[in-house]
Amino acid sequence: MTKMDFNIVLIGFMGAGKSTVASGLNRLYGMQIVEMDECIAKREGKSIPEIFETNGEEYFRNLETELLIELQKQTNLVISCGGGVPMRERNVAEMRKNGKVVLLTASPEVILERVRNNHDRPLLENHKSVEYIESLLEKRQEKYLAAADLVISTDGKTVEEICREIKGQILRIV
Ligand code: S3P
Repeated sequence: MTKMDFNIVLIGFMGAGKSTVASGLNRLYGMQIVEMDECIAKREGKSIPEIFETNGEEYFRNLETELLIELQKQTNLVISCGGGVPMRERNVAEMRKNGKVVLLTASPEVILERVRNNHDRPLLENHKSVEYIESLLEKRQEKYLAAADLVISTDGKTVEEICREIKGQILRIV
């Protein structure tokens, strides 16, 4: 893809594949990645669980909003959002300023497999079950869908297939 005058913003539930797909878009199309969680953790000098524990979730959510506002100065980025980012209306307005918003989806069973051995997600720690994932997903679904320009299912697809699908569909809507 030639240099784009917009950003691709990847949203979706934890374990939907945002970071993996961002890496794929970087590898295939040379887009620069911004991994929001990583960026926030680096700036704070703490892991995401540590930020939640010492400063609380609201503090973390404010950092997400600040970062997203800052990122609107740039284009040709693939922004991999934390799963909670589209829950704030302000965040959705920001990401849509310069961005094509791509919602990645996966079934609760696939999500559970992907997050099972990871301990960096405070909201899922001690809640690793299909039922819990399903219920949180259900609470969030409406906001995810409302924010999205495109919805791409990741179940059973390779990263390359997903990236090509994103590219094809984005070229149709720009
Ligand atoms: C969260 C998702 C996480 C991280 C934090 C909260 C959420 O990011 O931002 O643990 O509320 O869904 P990933 O979606 O990259 O796991």
